[in-house]
Amino acid sequence: MKNIIVATNNIGKITEIKRYFEEVACADGQPLFNILPLGDVLPNFDLEAFEDGNTFEENARKKVAAVARAVGCRPFNDEDFYVLADDSGLEIDALNGLPGVDSANFMGRETPYSLRFDKILHDMLDIPNEDRTARFICVMALYIEGEIKTFRATIEGAVADKPIGNGGFGYDPIFYIPKFDCTAAELPLWQKNEISHRGKALKMVVNHLK
Ligand code: IMP
Repeated sequence: MKNIIVATNNIGKITEIKRYFEEVACADGQPLFNILPLGDVLPNFDLEAFEDGNTFEENARKKVAAVARAVGCRPFNDEDFYVLADDSGLEIDALNGLPGVDSANFMGRETPYSLRFDKILHDMLDIPNEDRTARFICVMALYIEGEIKTFRATIEGAVADKPIGNGGFGYDPIFYIPKFDCTAAELPLWQKNEISHRGKALKMVVNHLK
């Protein structure tokens, strides 16, 4: 079975990616790929150092290349593994695209999301429903046999009036999805994976791998 090293230390992303591969990338009920979180392969690898690009594509490429390089020096051959990086974020139209490519660092990487929600919701107090449009963007970069390919996907939604829901991670509680009339944090994981920016990008990755 092929190993896919997932170049992220974000537990929320790892959970969603692992679940996707377990449920979707199977043949005869058996998983086709073994998902290895970065921390299991390269503990203490400073991935954040490679997140200084201006676009999701740039960051995803930098992360995947850095991890592929580092792993290549370990007892792995190119044939044994692929590397997958996810760079993603929330783009809010009324805030000129913020927090955008810097979503993880918005107000400081360690700042609790509850405080980030307070700030965003405060800044959007006067914004009417029709102008609260926002989207999650995900760019997956796949390192495969010496080459890097990128896959971009989005999910459209709106900024909710208040945070709702305990599922998901990051900005999910304030991301309202009109089609389901709930926030991303209210969706079960399998359903978020079916419709999310990350789930759609993973579908492209898996189609490519197959
Ligand atoms: P990255 O490590 O720079 O790609 O950071 C992505 C950041 O965007 C995360 O830490 C979250 O703050 C946000 N984000 C990305 N995807 C999601 C999602 O599916 N739900 C909620 N927040 C997300």
